[in-house]
Amino acid sequence: MSETNVSVNAELRTVAEKITEHELEAAGRSEVLLDVDDLSVTLFTEDGELPAIRSLSFVMRTGETLAVVGESGCGKSMTALSIMGLLPQPPAKIVGGSIRLEGTDLAQLSRDEMRAYRGSKIGMIFQEPMTSLNPVMRAGRQIREGILVHNPQMDKKEADERALEMIRLVGIPAPEKVFRSYPHELSGGMRQRVMIAMALACQPSLLICDEPTTALDVTIQAQILQLIDRMRAELGTAVMLITHDMGVVSEMADWVAVMYAGHLVEYTTASELFTNPKHPYSIGLINSIPSMDDVVDKLFAIPGNVPMLDELPHGCPFHPRCPYARDVCRQECPSVAALDGDENHTVACWMFDQTKWGE
Ligand SMILES: Nc1ncnc2c1ncn2[C@@H]1O[C@H](COP(=O)(O)OP(=O)(O)OP(=O)(O)O)[C@@H](O)[C@H]1O
Ligand SMILES: [Mg+2]
Repeated sequence: MSETNVSVNAELRTVAEKITEHELEAAGRSEVLLDVDDLSVTLFTEDGELPAIRSLSFVMRTGETLAVVGESGCGKSMTALSIMGLLPQPPAKIVGGSIRLEGTDLAQLSRDEMRAYRGSKIGMIFQEPMTSLNPVMRAGRQIREGILVHNPQMDKKEADERALEMIRLVGIPAPEKVFRSYPHELSGGMRQRVMIAMALACQPSLLICDEPTTALDVTIQAQILQLIDRMRAELGTAVMLITHDMGVVSEMADWVAVMYAGHLVEYTTASELFTNPKHPYSIGLINSIPSMDDVVDKLFAIPGNVPMLDELPHGCPFHPRCPYARDVCRQECPSVAALDGDENHTVACWMFDQTKWGE
């Protein structure tokens, strides 16, 4: 291990120790940090009411990584934006369910109340850092401003020191230089690190990463993912990782939520999902991972596309693409249910409902 790594790790530990007693107590009291229960989001458009998210339930625990996966348009970003209180309003609106963070239902908070939560309790990293960085403000100052919003009693000098410390923490070489740089003077990977520093500066208990590395090249991608994972391990942050990449899921996730057309179709631990996937959609996603071991003529792809929200089929939304679909799948939408009584592996598919499937 290099000398820089050793010093960065020591600094990380110091930051971890700085987490207030109150926060540690809160984390200890309830193991579940975020409890999303029966969440539904509707888009009120000129073409009618479109169901962007339907009856979504999952929990996140301190220090764990939940991967949210599914093809484009499945509702992953909508899920993240619901939790952040950043849904595009109009047209989107939460029409049912709750999002409890340490017991407080975020779905019931006003915009102002929610603003206090964002940053201090929940941090977010987007795919494109320029969407959340201010192009005319130096990187260090942006991080400092974030710190000051959530710690109004702190003086500017202390906040500057803290911002610089965060820039160092995310492994930026020449931190003082980056502190004084404008976002356009930095590379994509550096900007992403600055955004991570900003998100982590207030030590949020939940970090939501929406495709954090899609725009970066592969080596930088790996470094950023390692950084997020190190923060999780050392600061105890719960991480929601939204990604298309099942390879990343297998490396990073403790739990996985597989989404399809706004519905949760399978939810279990990563090891269970990769060794014992049940929903035909999850199996399709896993089979689409290119393998280095098997020589194949053609890569597997799930036939068809995710339906548009205004063209959702009747019954199970996946049935037009499902090789096993039967009449029941065309008629009724299955709910999420425990597989063989195992609450840690839930799936929404009629195949696992003996009474329905046997009919
Ligand atoms: N502002 C909006 N107005 C209308 N429809 C929207 C809006 N934003 C998203 N949608 C629709 O909501 C659905 C879910 O979108 P979402 O952005 O959550 O998908 P996603 O899973 O994040 O996809 P991607 O992998 O492409 O980021 C899609 O059908 C999308 O077309
Ligand atoms: Mg998205």
